[in-house]
Amino acid sequence: MILRPIQQLIHTTAVAEGAGVTVRRTIGTAALRNFDPFLMLDHFGSDNPDEYIAGFPPHPHRGFITFTYMLDGHMLHEDSMGNRGDLKSGGAQWMKAASGVIHSEMPQQTEGLMRGFQLWINLPASEKMSDPAYQEYSPAAIPQATISGGTIKVLLGEHAGVRGPIEDPLTQVEYFDVALQPGQSFEHSSRPKSAFVYVYDGSATLAGNPLPAHALAVLGNGDTLQITSGSDGARFIYVAGNPLGEPIVQYGPFVMNSREEIEQALADYRDDKLVQKKAAMYGR
Ligand code: FE2
Repeated sequence: MILRPIQQLIHTTAVAEGAGVTVRRTIGTAALRNFDPFLMLDHFGSDNPDEYIAGFPPHPHRGFITFTYMLDGHMLHEDSMGNRGDLKSGGAQWMKAASGVIHSEMPQQTEGLMRGFQLWINLPASEKMSDPAYQEYSPAAIPQATISGGTIKVLLGEHAGVRGPIEDPLTQVEYFDVALQPGQSFEHSSRPKSAFVYVYDGSATLAGNPLPAHALAVLGNGDTLQITSGSDGARFIYVAGNPLGEPIVQYGPFVMNSREEIEQALADYRDDKLVQKKAAMYGR
């Protein structure tokens, strides 16, 4: 057993997104431009409506998957495929934007805590211009298991015989939400090359080194994740996936393999051709 160490600690950068929503970004900042196959990780977490109420009005994506996991709150999703999703506490949404999607993500609450993560997972060149797809998972669809000293929700991947409902054959993503009581340890056989942990409540140590809350720990080489919660317990996400090893050219919400493909995406968006099969509600 070789414990995966903390290779790099990325502290959050506050970024104004959408119509002025404050998010805490780690992957996708100057400190970590991308982490193949992951392009961005935003943690939205606030009990101040001024920081989330404006939401994310209609905006485009092309070339990757957006994966949203809601910890607290209520968000309505509508997209150019005609999907209307109701994302509630503990629910998740997997959207393969691929060739092009325009969607909105709007809070359905005017007060209280809104908290969750949005992860962008890159697509290989062969999939970037494929048809978009959408899957939504209610809180009940995500298995929660009792582990020694805590609980685990498995969104993607498998731990101790518990398998998440969401499949990602392209990059073999694992995505767990783990809650540990004070002074408890969690171990997982962690094989995918690109892996990180993000503590969003409490504190922890990873392979014996301090892991503060609201920072992203990039894991180094090894085969085992070992994390121990501090005196106030810990809640964290663990995410891992295999890199695509392809060129990444990003311009805002468009992530392709070359400059030319980005220019094409911009032209398509300008000419109203980004979305190839528009549902009636988005017909213009
Ligand atoms: Fe979006």
